[in-house]
Amino acid sequence: DKGAYPYYMIKEIDEQPAVIRRLIQTYKNDQGQFEVPADLITAMQQASNLHIVACGTSAHAGWVGKTLFESMVGIPTMVHTASEFAYHQPLLGDKPFFIFLTQSGETADSRQALVKVNEKGYPSLTITNVKGSTLSREAGYTLLLHAGPEIAVASTKAYTAQITVMAILADVLSNHDYGFDMGHELSIIATAMESILSEKDTIKAWVDANLMATRNAFYIGRHLDYYVSMEAALKLKEISYVQTEAFASGELKHGTIALVESGTPVIAVVSDPTTASHTRGNVEEVKARGANAMVIATQDLAKEGDQFVVPSIQAELSPLATVVVTQLIAYYTALGRGLDVDKPRNLAKSVTVE
Ligand code: F6R
Repeated sequence: DKGAYPYYMIKEIDEQPAVIRRLIQTYKNDQGQFEVPADLITAMQQASNLHIVACGTSAHAGWVGKTLFESMVGIPTMVHTASEFAYHQPLLGDKPFFIFLTQSGETADSRQALVKVNEKGYPSLTITNVKGSTLSREAGYTLLLHAGPEIAVASTKAYTAQITVMAILADVLSNHDYGFDMGHELSIIATAMESILSEKDTIKAWVDANLMATRNAFYIGRHLDYYVSMEAALKLKEISYVQTEAFASGELKHGTIALVESGTPVIAVVSDPTTASHTRGNVEEVKARGANAMVIATQDLAKEGDQFVVPSIQAELSPLATVVVTQLIAYYTALGRGLDVDKPRNLAKSVTVE
């Protein structure tokens, strides 16, 4: 039931701080430390490589997970698009461990990949929102997203819940030893999300002024800001039908900047201190070609004139906050264009065909 909300999507966007808090509670033990089943941890610790397999938004969460597993746990991690992986596997390393990310647990492309993984006898974990779903039953282990039903076709709270569960898993795998307190940082993020959600009017006004008439748009960023851009672009294109692409901002000059015309909206995500000045340089380049450049920045990196400032959070987890701004951008663009936000054309919530 969507209660007083006009659409499920905006209700689900709003639920995200509560989902993060529920995950913190659910996965903490009596000593206040994150815990997951010990046999899962043993199986993962024996692995030489992690392979994350998923589709769409879940695959975009996978890219953030890759960064968490590599930077916090030090285990090489690859991300695979499920529909590509099922029939053409790359070299997997001597002891691969598979993580299937799937909100529904029913996605046929992901399931086909799991069938192949099971045929080869490799260990696997499904991270899903649906207890008892097909991928949960067929994988060796399951961790649940506890996000509550996600009804809108465009996935929002499942993305942030997937990243949160992978952050918790990385915390346990690293023996809680990598330089910050995950539980504390995640609760700061829940609060940061609330502060972003309290500024819906600002985002709506920004969208109304810049995205109502455009036929195309671009998101740019580097590293985690690029991974968020991929998700931001998918969200905007799938519900507003604005052709939106994400670019690693350093790649612009290698071809794509040719697409930038006078007035083209280019939204840059700037949350990474290591690359902020480079992305700012790219913003100047697109502006020089006439782009309508806009910036979403974290507080510590914000500059006068940025369109939206997100509270500063732990850099490794920045997608959990920046993505919320881009979910709202997609929502208000579709709403402003009079579209059915929850049921975009040509799409189904759960894709059970390959
Ligand atoms: C986009 C979206 C899809 C799904 C994809 C995978 O908003 O919802 O891209 O993320 O179809 O679905 P699950 O996670 O159920 O396997």
